Amino acid sequence: MAIRKAMVAGNWKMNGSLELVKQMSDAINNVKSKKIDVVLFPPFPLVSALIASGVSTGTQTISEYKPGAFTGEVDAQLVKDLGAEYVLVGHSERRSIYNESNSTVAEKFSRAQQVGLTPILCVGESESEQENGKTELVVAAQIDAVIEKIGVAALKDSVIAYEPVWAIGTGKTASPEQAQNVHKFIRDKIAALDSDLAQGLTILYGGSVNEKNSELLFAQADIDGGLIGGASLKADSFSAICESAKGTL
Ligand code: 13P
Repeated sequence: MAIRKAMVAGNWKMNGSLELVKQMSDAINNVKSKKIDVVLFPPFPLVSALIASGVSTGTQTISEYKPGAFTGEVDAQLVKDLGAEYVLVGHSERRSIYNESNSTVAEKFSRAQQVGLTPILCVGESESEQENGKTELVVAAQIDAVIEKIGVAALKDSVIAYEPVWAIGTGKTASPEQAQNVHKFIRDKIAALDSDLAQGLTILYGGSVNEKNSELLFAQADIDGGLIGGASLKADSFSAICESAKGTL
């Protein structure tokens, strides 16, 4: 993984407060290093405060549309103008609770890149899909939706996060081998279209990552860091996860 920089990203989901911005920015400013990119994804109202505290920031979603009559939605350009750098697209909670289809996710991915945000494309199978041996099929379809809409070259300025739905918030982490197999599948799939791009592509693992299991996960050849939910709300745990990523270069 020497050719790829490690990344640790924290998705706060619908959690957080101004107090947490202070605690986490202090913690992150302490672990910052050239060896890793650390990014937080707070709820929208906390984005400006986090940016002002010097933390690299993204949002958890954006609208697929340009500005207009879309009550309650948030325009990607505005997010970019505030100073955010990244956006999550296709998180499994957006797909399952808000019915975002592969095609909507591809539109959001494209809109993010139009305004210069780096999309982190979240992919992953449900428990029943995993039990029925459909992991590769599901993950491939989620990635193909983006490739078909804007072409493989668009993946160059993006990150992919593999988050098996059965591992999110359940304490059931994929084993390092299980996760590595899917990451390798993703990299090989993209390498078949563009080998250099695939070698440079950052692929994160997410799903019940904590300070006890992060080191072994990040040590896998095709795992370049993590997308962390619950443990990104605790300064000690998140700092420890960031530290564990430094050694994997
Ligand atoms: P947990 O780390 O809480 O399982 O959440 C993972 C996740 O969904 C990050 O986007």
